[in-house]
Amino acid sequence: MKKPPYLCGLDFGTSNSVICAISTDPHGDPSPVVMSEPTVLFFPWRNTKDTFTYYVGQEAVQKYVEMGMHGRFIQSLKSVLHDPDFDMTMIYGVPFTPIELTELILTNLKQKMEAKLGTTLDTVVMGRPVMFSEDPEEDQTAQRRIHSAARKCGFKYISFQLEPIGAAYSYEARLTKAETVLVVDLGGGTTDYTIMNLDPQKRHALDRTQDILATGGVHIGGDDFDASIMWHALAPYFGYGSQFEDWNRLFDFPIHFFTTLCTWYDIAKLKESPFKEDLHSILRTSTNKPAVRRLKTLIEEDLGFGLFKAIEHTKKAFSELDQTSIHFESPHLSVHEPVSRAAFEGYIAEHVEAIHSALTETLQRAHKKEADIDSILMTGGSSLVSVIQTTMAARFGGNKIIPDSNRFTGVAVGLALGCGYSL
Ligand SMILES: Nc1ncnc2c1ncn2[C@@H]1O[C@H](COP(=O)(O)OP(=O)(O)OP(=O)(O)O)[C@@H](O)[C@H]1O
Ligand SMILES: [Mg+2]
Repeated sequence: MKKPPYLCGLDFGTSNSVICAISTDPHGDPSPVVMSEPTVLFFPWRNTKDTFTYYVGQEAVQKYVEMGMHGRFIQSLKSVLHDPDFDMTMIYGVPFTPIELTELILTNLKQKMEAKLGTTLDTVVMGRPVMFSEDPEEDQTAQRRIHSAARKCGFKYISFQLEPIGAAYSYEARLTKAETVLVVDLGGGTTDYTIMNLDPQKRHALDRTQDILATGGVHIGGDDFDASIMWHALAPYFGYGSQFEDWNRLFDFPIHFFTTLCTWYDIAKLKESPFKEDLHSILRTSTNKPAVRRLKTLIEEDLGFGLFKAIEHTKKAFSELDQTSIHFESPHLSVHEPVSRAAFEGYIAEHVEAIHSALTETLQRAHKKEADIDSILMTGGSSLVSVIQTTMAARFGGNKIIPDSNRFTGVAVGLALGCGYSL
């Protein structure tokens, strides 16, 4: 196949999506052109039967906040793409398929990049996590949906590469000698590993299969850390642990209210029947009415998005601070909850353990021990969580850890670089 004018990599992420284009013109500028956007959609209203006003990416976040967080906001779409039961979602009475929603995200990035380059892009290497799902059929469902969305948005030649392999290629571009590297890519939805022999001499080789010693991963990412903070630090503030009376007996506040609360985009479900009526009757006889009233406000006033932004802010602050608080203010709901980093590390301990177990399995598959790895490239936004950094350093030796200077964009750059065309 003819060499395209640009190598293009697209990292469709749970939290952020990134597109990268690199010119193949030997006389052109070889630096990667990179653009990134949060992976979100906002539908404020429906215009006519078939037309909607909608916003994508940064603009969606901005408009959603400007419009008082009313309307339909869609986030973490990638986390549900593997689910065969998620075949459509109703937006103002009109069904949207997962492919159509993904297409809107990809089209936005493709068109912006094309406008910047002044040319159309028809060839792309799409990233994918090592595991969309442990079920192989579901895993393929997610990849097929992304493939269809990429085709619908105008890419003609589409291939897939694992995201951590993308990160490895981008790191290899900076290397001067060969080494065995472990890539740890901790994003919003998944943790992905690759153990790979890197060699700057082989950068343009077409087939690198032999160099990939093992890949692995687990379905845990930054969204799970946010959910853990919600569960441990805030659920009691909204009534978890309280009781209500029915037929002269006391019952525990049903736990499913709080499990739903931990996935902010599910909170809207609690506005509907039968939850709405249940909440109303629980409030009448609750042993903790102020907390249940706060929960009602959170649900009825669509404050879940704002509260989760505050939780994420707190989580990020722990990269620098030992002590901070979850701070959220709106006219009818105030949250000021002090949290220590030690407490946060306790909340996510099980996740950190699972992240390390998946790494042990990946090392075993590669027939490698910790001492055999020359460097550990820590990439993805959640690799900034300090307990992840300290436990990786304790396991491999702090001097081997390479903090990725392109933590949010390296995957897309590497997808473009490793696409199999020599520059
Ligand atoms: N300083 C920080 N401390 C802790 N977490 C952080 C920090 N900065 C960003 N994050 C988290 O990183 C995640 C986003 O990272 P990234 O953009 O790499 O994910 P993604 O590529 O969209 O997800 P995935 O690769 O899982 O599909 C979010 O959960 C965000 O809260
Ligand atoms: Mg990622």
